[in-house]
Amino acid sequence: MKTFYRNAMCGELKAEDIGKIVELSGWVDNRRNLGGVLFIDLRDRSGKIQLVVNEEKPEAFETAEKVRNEYVLNVKGKVVLRSEQNVNPNLPTGEIEVEIQELKILDTAETPPIYIEDNDQTNEAVRLKYRYLDLRKPKFQKMLMTRAKTAAIARNYLNDCGFCEIETPMLAKPTPEGARDFLVPSRVQKGKFFGLPQSPQLYKQILMISGVDRYYQLAKCFRDEDLRQDRQPEFTQIDMEMSFVDKDDIIAISEGMIAKIMKEVKGIDVQLPMIRMTYQEAMDQYGSDKPDTRFGLKLTDLSDIVKDSEFKVFSGAIKKGGSVRAINAKGAQEKLSKKAIKGLENFAKIYKAKGLAWIDVSEGEMKSPILKFISEAEKQEIFKRTNAEPGDLVFIIADTNEIVWNALGQLRLELARKLEYDLKDQYNFLWVTDFPLLEYDAEAGRYTAKHHPFTMPLAEDLQYLETDLLKVRADAYDMVINGVELGGGSIRIHNQDVQSQVFKALGFTEESAWRQFGFLLEALKYGTPPHGGLAFGLDRLVMLLTDSDNIRDVIAFPKTQNHGCLMMDAPAETELDQLIDLGISIDEI
Ligand code: AMO
Ligand code: AMP
Repeated sequence: MKTFYRNAMCGELKAEDIGKIVELSGWVDNRRNLGGVLFIDLRDRSGKIQLVVNEEKPEAFETAEKVRNEYVLNVKGKVVLRSEQNVNPNLPTGEIEVEIQELKILDTAETPPIYIEDNDQTNEAVRLKYRYLDLRKPKFQKMLMTRAKTAAIARNYLNDCGFCEIETPMLAKPTPEGARDFLVPSRVQKGKFFGLPQSPQLYKQILMISGVDRYYQLAKCFRDEDLRQDRQPEFTQIDMEMSFVDKDDIIAISEGMIAKIMKEVKGIDVQLPMIRMTYQEAMDQYGSDKPDTRFGLKLTDLSDIVKDSEFKVFSGAIKKGGSVRAINAKGAQEKLSKKAIKGLENFAKIYKAKGLAWIDVSEGEMKSPILKFISEAEKQEIFKRTNAEPGDLVFIIADTNEIVWNALGQLRLELARKLEYDLKDQYNFLWVTDFPLLEYDAEAGRYTAKHHPFTMPLAEDLQYLETDLLKVRADAYDMVINGVELGGGSIRIHNQDVQSQVFKALGFTEESAWRQFGFLLEALKYGTPPHGGLAFGLDRLVMLLTDSDNIRDVIAFPKTQNHGCLMMDAPAETELDQLIDLGISIDEI
């Protein structure tokens, strides 16, 4: 392709190009004046190349002397082999350099406030303010390319599978989908608001009623919620929905797509079909519905052993409907000091555990703060159940099931960090299925949907919708990788009666359900195909593909912890006129 400013890319030049005259454009990465000879590293999207100019080309040399970092240059020159002592084995183009014949400064630059190199340590607030400079770094250029490639593979794959890409509106109806909505005031209909979609969930279900059959979209989603390392208020889903399918069809299409992306982007073969685990199995074994299965440290239930124990902390928890569970950290004694164990106890307390009992398993004398409370028989049973051997450390928590699972689930992850397990280059994909349909929110005193209110209960559990809501499982599934939820979906309710029953369970009156979701209930009347779908978090997928542990690193223009964009300084106050137009007045805070 002929471009105006160049006929080659800096990072793509190779030894085979020696002898060629090339024209390059890019940014000055570095400049060294060795008196009479000047070296410039020129950088573009593809990488860097060393330029060299000497006084034999006086015009170019004079211009080169004025050059500073981040100036934008256009050069013509000859590709030559570097002298042996100048070869740089750390640079893909390190064998060669370009002898400058002509040099033009296309633009000058002030000294940048950050270092344009991957190991720059400038604090993140400064980097986000100057995001355009941050993005010049090789790792971010690579990330942007990986992200684009991932999206392209997903699109091609879904197109090949007969999916139709459809854009759904950003200006939608506010709906209580889980998180808070971002609201957009309507000027034309004063006092009313659009909600930015938390996901295209209802649109895509309605598209199935429209006969679209297979839909997908790389959809922007908006959720006004507290941020974490893998959450942004604005993020992207690879969102899909299919008609006349069951869970197995959706799982097969989805894992096929992820396997293709892993292969083409990362060169990794994912074993298909992926392992499946029910929610109950995941909680019982890993204390989490997104288990990291790269290491053991599984939970074991000790409840039946200690239900009548003299130790009231244990027997009392069980009498109240809770449980007592343990993790055996194999061979951990030599790696965890008493101080480290104390640290783990404090760690467990962050997750609401009232304490953390531990037993240091040894041949003779064993140490444990609870030995004096439990009987010899109980101790022996615990050792048998947890497969405890000398050198091991057994950790135990007694509490409600939720607290025991969560605290031990987190302790598992903390133990893996403290014991420095090598988890690199392992990709443990799995599906978690059969989630509970509802959860009880004790604070709000009502049931909420675990996935969303449009999820189909498992057929065999429909009977409990009237009697025992917490027993109802959903035909829902999440794809999990190394302890991260990468995507999730479900078979949907395609029958108005079941949908009304679920709304009722969620505490909606007939009237409030129709006010909020009348359009869906109405649509369900006119012939709805059985359907289901799923959405992957594109940002989380790119984190996995680029080995990033921070979601901000995989989004071109991310938001900070307090939902701000430091580069544009958004959100911002607005003109009074605009507020008047919208019929909005702001209270002084
Ligand atoms: P869910 O809410 O589970 O399902 O979201 C699907 C996937 O989107 C990603 N994700 C996020 N990524 C970044 N920041 C966030 N704040 C964030 N929230 C979610 C996760 C998650 O697995 N409509 C349903 C899907 C369906 O049923 O088809 C939905 O949105 O990777
Ligand atoms: P205490 O009787 O409170 O001094 O506790 C004795 C031991 O039991 C201490 O090591 C506590 O950490 C531990 N412990 C207290 N509560 C719990 C609990 N809910 N689960 C597990 N261990 C506990």
